[in-house]
Amino acid sequence: MMERTRVRALLQSNTPVKEVLVKGWVRTRRDAKDFCFIEVNDGSCLGNLQVIVRGDLPAFDAIAHLGTGAAIEVAGELVTSGGKGQRWDLIASAVTIIGPAPESFPLQKKRHTDEYLRTIAHLRPRTNKYGAVFRLRSELAHATHLFFRQRDFIYIHTPIITASDCEGAGELFRVTTLDAGRMPEDDFFGRPAHLTVSGQLGAEMFALALGDVYTFGPTFRAENSNTRRHAAEFWMVEPEMAFCDLEGNMALAEALVTATLRHVLENCADDLQLFDRFVSPGLLLNLQGVLAKPFVRLPYREAIILLERSGKKFENPVRYGLDLQAEHERFLTDEAFGQPVILHDYPRQIKPFYMRLNDDEETVAAMDVLLPGIGELVGGSQREERLDLLENRMAEAGLSPSVYWWYLDSRRFGSVPHSGFGLGFERLLMLVTGIRNIRDVIPFPRTPRSIDF
Ligand code: 4AD
Repeated sequence: MMERTRVRALLQSNTPVKEVLVKGWVRTRRDAKDFCFIEVNDGSCLGNLQVIVRGDLPAFDAIAHLGTGAAIEVAGELVTSGGKGQRWDLIASAVTIIGPAPESFPLQKKRHTDEYLRTIAHLRPRTNKYGAVFRLRSELAHATHLFFRQRDFIYIHTPIITASDCEGAGELFRVTTLDAGRMPEDDFFGRPAHLTVSGQLGAEMFALALGDVYTFGPTFRAENSNTRRHAAEFWMVEPEMAFCDLEGNMALAEALVTATLRHVLENCADDLQLFDRFVSPGLLLNLQGVLAKPFVRLPYREAIILLERSGKKFENPVRYGLDLQAEHERFLTDEAFGQPVILHDYPRQIKPFYMRLNDDEETVAAMDVLLPGIGELVGGSQREERLDLLENRMAEAGLSPSVYWWYLDSRRFGSVPHSGFGLGFERLLMLVTGIRNIRDVIPFPRTPRSIDF
C-alpha cells in the first residue's frame, strides 16, 4: 500500500510528483462543468491542496456532493497549477470517501466568533485559526526543549500529585478518594494531597544534584478568578540552576523568551502571518519589538515611584509593600517603557517563603518578567539557601517542618546559591499569536464552572 504524503510536504515540493496519496478533510468544493475542485486540508499546515476531480472518475456523483468536513483519500498526480494563488494541483485518479459529513457540520465556510468556537472545542482545531494555534503550541514546546538541550539542562518530570504547597497561596485542588466527612488519615495517601501548583520544590532538589534542570508540565490553580489570563490547568516551564544568582536567573528568562520567539518567527511564518492579518494586526512588528532591545530591569521600589509619579488614576492603590495589579504592570510595559520589563527585589511580605532574603532584610531576590499586552509571563527568584533563614521564613508562613523535612535537608547537605523561575506556557503562546484569551490557546480549557470536553 502506498504511504500518504502530508500536504505541507507537497506544497513545498520543487518538482511535480507522479504518484501521491493524500488523506484529509474537505474544506470547500466548487463545481465546474465536467469536473470539480476540492480544497483538502490535512492539518499539517495552513495551506490547502487543490484537488481536481474529473467527471469520468468512478463515483463522481458522490464526490460532487461531498460536504465541508468530509474525510477523503485521494490518489493522483501533483502537477503545476494552471490557476492563480497556488503552485500545485493534485489531479485525482481515485477518490475514496472515508468519512462523509452532512450539512449539519457546524464549521461551514463562514467566520465564527471565538465564543461560539469555545462551545465546539472538539471541532475548532479544524478551522484555519485554531489549527495554526495548536501547530504553534507544538512548535513552541519543541523550541523550549531545544533551548534547554543546547544549554545542557536536564529534563525532570516532577510529580503532579503532591502534599506540599509551593506557592503557599492556598489555591489547591484536593485529590481524594474519600466520601465527604471522612478523615484525611483514611484517604489514599494517608494525609491531604492535591494537584501541584508548581514543580519548583522538586526541581530544586534535582538542581542540587544535576546542576541545571527544568520541568515542563501541567500545573493547577483553583483561583476563582475568571480573567482572560488565568486557567485552572496550565503548563509551566520551570528551570532551576545551581550556583546561580538573581542576575543569572534574569538573563536566562530573557534568553528563553527571545530564543523561543526567534524559533517560531523562523519556522512558522505562514501560521504567524494569519495572526498578523486576522487576529492581531501589527503582531509581527510587536514581536520584532520584543527582540529589538534588551529587557528593562527595574527594582520594585523604583517601579512604585514611577507609578506614583505617573499622574494616572489607577483602580487599585499603589504603595510600597503592596503587590502590583495588572493595570500597574500594563502601565510599565505599554506606556512607561513600551518594551518588556523585568521587575526585581520585591518586599518580602508579598512573596513566598522560599525566596532569598536580601541584605537589606526587607526585600527578597524575586523577579517577574512583564510583557507588553500580556502582563506577567515569568515569575522566579534566587532561593533561600541558608537553613536558619529558610526555617524562619517557613515558620512565618505557617508551614510545618515535618512536611518539608526533605526540602530543609537540601540546605543541610551541600547547600549552594541557586535560582529558577516559572514561565506560563499559555501566556507565551498568547504573546506569539496575539490571542487575548487564554481559553483560546488551550485545547480543552479548564476555568471556573467550565469543564466540558
Ligand atoms: O509566578 P508563579 O506563581 O511562580 C511559581 O509558581 C514559581 N514556583 C515558579 C518557579 O520559580 N519555578 O507562576 C509562574 C508563571 C506566571 O508568571 C504566569 O505566567 C503563569 O505561571 N501562571 C498562570 N498561567 C495561567 N493561568 C494561571 N492561573 C497562572 N498562574 C500563574
